[in-house]
Amino acid sequence: MTDNAPTTTPGAELVIRRPDDWHVHLRDGAVLDAVAPFTSAHFGRAIIMPNLVPPVVMAADAAGYRARILAAVPAGHDFTPLMTLYLTEATDPDDVAAAARDGLVTAVKLYPAGATTNSASGVRDVRAVDAVLERMAAIGLPLLIHGEATDPEIDIFDREAVFIDRVLIPLRQRHPGLRVVLEHVTTVDAVDYVRSVEAGLAATITVHHLVINRNAVFRGGLRPHYFCLPVAKRERHRLALRAAATSGDPRFFLGTDTAPHPVTAKESACGCAGIFTAPVALACLAHVFEAEGALDRFEGFASRHGPAFYGLPVNDARTRLVRDAAPYTPPAPVLARDDAIAVFDPEFPLHWRVADTQPT
Ligand code: NCD
Ligand code: ZN
Repeated sequence: MTDNAPTTTPGAELVIRRPDDWHVHLRDGAVLDAVAPFTSAHFGRAIIMPNLVPPVVMAADAAGYRARILAAVPAGHDFTPLMTLYLTEATDPDDVAAAARDGLVTAVKLYPAGATTNSASGVRDVRAVDAVLERMAAIGLPLLIHGEATDPEIDIFDREAVFIDRVLIPLRQRHPGLRVVLEHVTTVDAVDYVRSVEAGLAATITVHHLVINRNAVFRGGLRPHYFCLPVAKRERHRLALRAAATSGDPRFFLGTDTAPHPVTAKESACGCAGIFTAPVALACLAHVFEAEGALDRFEGFASRHGPAFYGLPVNDARTRLVRDAAPYTPPAPVLARDDAIAVFDPEFPLHWRVADTQPT
């Protein structure tokens, strides 16, 4: 095996550097204990989203949360949580800079206030955080952006495209040196914008947005387990995401946005946004790449482009995925104390699975 080329036998086996997940919600308490092992089993590192209640705002909050995550990771899993801070209009640039200098945080997350789950303390006026962004640009700390406009007048399917025009482009003009990740992109508009920028901008893409379009949310009735934010868009957008993910372009990499919620909170008169994909993320992703004839690019998307953007080494360990001829039974809901958390159902038979991880 060479360092650079994945070993591929399409239809049978794929050996790649151990993947990382650049956008993960692990929650806290009993849910953290229940879901963390699914991420730590398959991913060497994960960018941990800070939208707890209350959010992870200060460096000290991130240190405490990191310790709770490590306590929830099973012995024998080689996993490093990469912490983020939740940007508010009161965030102190010095606190952010100190946390970055200490190696405690890898990035800062911008949630427009009200854009998604637990974003009430987010940023209302992005100009109010310009001093923090200026400092982040100076020290090279990436800004991760939930890219949806929040004006309730804007159609929910247009919010990402409007955000790019009204917020992201002006923000990047004000801070040309700031490294930005546009998170969980869902539109051809976002893909085109990221492609139009030479350096300093990348995008994560989830597994579910490569699999479902917006019809999945409404097929035969309202299907809350396919509801997430940004909401899935039209088929032409899904196809653009698949093309970007499988293109080999290093500006696109995996961020599953695995976002567990109890079934009772999803199946509700006001069902919350978020899809729990961690247990099947790599299996579904391998299916997508195989279908696109792009298994040779799987390693780039899952294991190489993310570390390259963040200036980190690729994981030493190798992950072996195998494709079984017969499909296997989809994972049962994950139990967290009294709650059940449904696992994403891609509505295709699962053949790929993670077989093992070799340390080197
Ligand atoms: C996420 C969550 O549940 O925390 N939900 C989602 O639909 N993706 C928040 C987010 O990343 O938008
Ligand atoms: Zn998310």
